[in-house]
Amino acid sequence: MAHDLVIVANRLPVDRVKGPDGKTTWRRSPGGLVSAIEPVMRAHDGVWVGWPGGTEQRLKPFKDDGLALVPLSMTAEEIEEHYEGFSNGTLWPLYHDVVAKPEFHREWWDTYVKVNRRFAEKAADLAAKGATVWVHDYQLQLVPQMLRELRPDLRIGFYLHIPFPPAELFQQLPWRRQILEGLLGADLVGFQLPGAAQNFIRLVRQRVGHKTHRDLVYLPDGRTVRAAAFPISIDAAGFQEMAESEAVTERAAAIREALGNPKKIFLGIDRLDYTKGIYARLRAFGELISDGRLTVDDAVFVQVAVPSRERVEHYRNLRDDIERLVGRLNGDLGRIGRPAISYLHTSYPREEMAALYRAADVMVVTPYRDGMNLVAKEYVACRIHEDGALVLSEFAGAADELRQAWLVNPYDMNGMKAALLEAYEAEPKELARRMKAMRKQIAQHDVKAWADSFMTELEDEGNNHRKTLRPADRS
Ligand code: F6P
Repeated sequence: MAHDLVIVANRLPVDRVKGPDGKTTWRRSPGGLVSAIEPVMRAHDGVWVGWPGGTEQRLKPFKDDGLALVPLSMTAEEIEEHYEGFSNGTLWPLYHDVVAKPEFHREWWDTYVKVNRRFAEKAADLAAKGATVWVHDYQLQLVPQMLRELRPDLRIGFYLHIPFPPAELFQQLPWRRQILEGLLGADLVGFQLPGAAQNFIRLVRQRVGHKTHRDLVYLPDGRTVRAAAFPISIDAAGFQEMAESEAVTERAAAIREALGNPKKIFLGIDRLDYTKGIYARLRAFGELISDGRLTVDDAVFVQVAVPSRERVEHYRNLRDDIERLVGRLNGDLGRIGRPAISYLHTSYPREEMAALYRAADVMVVTPYRDGMNLVAKEYVACRIHEDGALVLSEFAGAADELRQAWLVNPYDMNGMKAALLEAYEAEPKELARRMKAMRKQIAQHDVKAWADSFMTELEDEGNNHRKTLRPADRS
């Protein structure tokens, strides 16, 4: 069946899970993207193409809660070379300010091309005449061009969820031109921040040689491509509602109680990723205790580290480093029943996250580089009493919007310590002033507004492109 909207993302919005009875079922992924895209999918008779995780082959298209899903299988080698390799061993560190050293391997690139082609072919099969295809993220940057070659009648949008690096870094990539040309297959290329869109436009001018003007690229065939910022957000009302519920309120009180009702709780929730700055923030907190500025009776740091990409070496090393640090800090600074750090290596459902947000007095989000960081926004949405402090890295996309946070440079240990202490000591009036402003921002710019603005813009750009098509290619 042909669809008017095709969503193409590396992962499906559901995970394959094994129940206690050994049977496998599908469970909706917790991410905000799913709830953002869902209404758009329903409104446009959409279908979602993605990898279901694992190596299971020959999975059939299916429906989950009314959503049409098409699993695209990967072999063990493709997972190793496309997902773990080129996507997460080359592009991820390169696009995040080379916080870790990117590796460049020609076999990884070859498999990235192969997997991108399979996604493009599947999307081409599923799309109705003149349909809209929305491609997501760094794992699939070649899909727009491949798809346009197969189906010039389509309206193609691409959205990059992670940062797009400055030219000085991007230029290291041996396949830089192919990636830029891949993205130029889209009518609209969306980024988190205006700076990323500008980086892209500049690179297209320098490396591909196309004419550009402001946010537009002029291609030799007469087509134009627009590159612009669409900062992603969360379902703010949904989080607020959950935070207000009796179950979450009770659970938040139980969490405080279980932690020994300290004066203040610091909280970090991150995928266990080297871009997130977990190690440095725990060190800063540890130093505040060893300096005597905080005590373990008054304060505890709850760090939730969500397991991620565990077969990639950098990630395995990071886990070892962090867990060694936590052990050392607790051994040196903690007392019986009063650890300095309460460390949890696990993932939680949204309700438990909301309870943690409600329980925490100081939320600490200190990535070295982050496309947006939705945890910061979720914390704000859950602070229904307009209290609580947010300590936020200047290098997270969210810092552009959440200006009233305590903004920090995660490389500056003393600066980070000072901000943690200020946030800890802030008066309720000051907290309310800051939180009120941030809550207003989040309420007005939620994920629905994000999806709507991208789709509207894509429609406009697509119409523009269709004017340049030969009549035979038009729907
Ligand atoms: O932020 C980029 C992203 O790819 C998200 O889309 C995803 O939720 C997260 O990183 C984890 O990615 P994965 O487990 O698919 O590697």
